[in-house]
Amino acid sequence: MSENRNHWIAQEALLDERVNEALWPGGQKAVDRLAKQGKKPVRELIDRLVDPETRFFELSRLAGFGMGYPGADDVPCGGIVTGIGKIHGNWTMIIANDPRVKAGTYFPITLKKHIRAQAIAEESGLNCVYIADSGGAYLPMQVDVFPDDGHFGSMFYNMARMSAKGLRQVTMSTGGNTAGGAYIVFMACESVMIDRMSYSFLGGPPLVKMATGEVISAEDLGGARVHTHISGGADHFCKSQDEAVDRVREILSLEPVRKIHLHRYEERPPGQPPDRLYDILPVTGSQAIDARAIIDTIADDGVFTEYKKHYAPGRGDNIVTGKIRLKGFPAGIVAANKIGVIFEEAARKAAEWIIRCSHEKIPILFLQGSPGYMIGSDAEHGGIGKYGADMVRAVSCAQVPRIQLVIGQDNGAANYGMSGRAYRPRFVFHTMRSRTSVMSGKSAGGVLLSIEERKRESTGNPMTDEERSHFYEKMVEKYDGEAHPFYCGARLLSDRVLKFTEIRDWLAMALEVSHLQPVGEPSFGNFRF
Ligand code: COA
Repeated sequence: MSENRNHWIAQEALLDERVNEALWPGGQKAVDRLAKQGKKPVRELIDRLVDPETRFFELSRLAGFGMGYPGADDVPCGGIVTGIGKIHGNWTMIIANDPRVKAGTYFPITLKKHIRAQAIAEESGLNCVYIADSGGAYLPMQVDVFPDDGHFGSMFYNMARMSAKGLRQVTMSTGGNTAGGAYIVFMACESVMIDRMSYSFLGGPPLVKMATGEVISAEDLGGARVHTHISGGADHFCKSQDEAVDRVREILSLEPVRKIHLHRYEERPPGQPPDRLYDILPVTGSQAIDARAIIDTIADDGVFTEYKKHYAPGRGDNIVTGKIRLKGFPAGIVAANKIGVIFEEAARKAAEWIIRCSHEKIPILFLQGSPGYMIGSDAEHGGIGKYGADMVRAVSCAQVPRIQLVIGQDNGAANYGMSGRAYRPRFVFHTMRSRTSVMSGKSAGGVLLSIEERKRESTGNPMTDEERSHFYEKMVEKYDGEAHPFYCGARLLSDRVLKFTEIRDWLAMALEVSHLQPVGEPSFGNFRF
């Protein structure tokens, strides 16, 4: 086995470990507790919900680890499962509370994940199914989850607006939905409740007793029977989770199957098996990569129709551009190459290509492995600032779906020019080789050290050699730690950390889902060529 392969296999084993923690919070004990309540672990419900023999593409499984919230340092998986699967042939967003994580309550990261899933659904025109089982806001952090835009109320605002756009919002309640949380039942287009398992009320029995003196059980206050037989706040009465899942499928069975607005060619195998990536990707982000070899593992038949291949050798080819088909879906490519530092020529070529893809209405796949734009007087005088800005402008205005896959360094303005999160690509995928931060640990360590040295000198207390190296190492460790895909994944800076062998399947799903809505006309602002 090659050194690279050994390294990546070990890295992906760490990923498996972390994902396992996310999938099984509380271990067998928590599963047994659910079973006593007649409940299944949430992913078992999802498996039954999606079409047989199809795959559920689960998003953001690393969310919520190491967040340092009061009373909960880790919130495994963010306490909520989100992902895309097919129901009666239609790609559908599924958003499901995991009651094993603090009763499915909403932490800031839970909300971020819920709202991110709704944003994907709205942009791509997907129906949504909510599997609701939550104690509502995580009360010790109410100010961070309740009142602001992007907080609790946004979930219901999004439901109402998506419903108005014709995107079906179906809720299946499998547990508590208290106070604001009750709206997930009442705001859905159709809601399914389960006898003696689902409850929905604006104030639970203890609050009611306190406020009015009325003593009443949860069942009699807002159980499934109350809302399906008396209040009319829910629409379907079921006796078990399995029956409820089947009912949701039945509700969605009459939906027309949405077609993609893109010609799909015949699917062909890639030029090289995706498994080759374990050998060809070097173990550190600062080592050069061969973008064409990487593209060979994702493109059908390995065919990469390159744009301006011979332009400005040594400077223009730190980014490669062109077209591929991926499982039959056409896509433009903008890929970092070699060590990925972006020179003026590469930035100009990339901007041109992004505009061309926009005119042709083909999606763009950004393979990001760039530590930034070239610096220094030659580059500044040569216009790297304006050419980099042109690239960022082209990315910002490109109306075609964009997908970012990070396979190396992802620093500074290169994060912008390569369609980072702030540029609203449809999906951001990381790998264990991704490192996303304002600059690398080494650069940050050096810059911060020079600032600290100046400060200390000005106070007449210069740093000793030992202090210098201690300070530098601490900063390198901090920056490298924060750039790591686990740290970024915990904060939802990616939609999924992919194993190398998963890349092709996930990109194909992303390309298909991104084209369920028609693409508009291109419109760009003012460039400085
Ligand atoms: N905020 C913070 N923590 C909460 C919480 C909330 N809203 N609701 C539950 N939790 C915590 C519990 O303290 C417990 O923590 P622990 O495991 O560290 O002891 C954990 O979540 C599990 O709660 P538990 O009550 O044991 O689960 P359950 O399955 O028996 O009951 C509920 C689930 C949702 C019915 C029940 O927890 C409840 O009524 N919560 C309050 C709901 C509410 O009033 N929300 C209003 C906010 S909008």
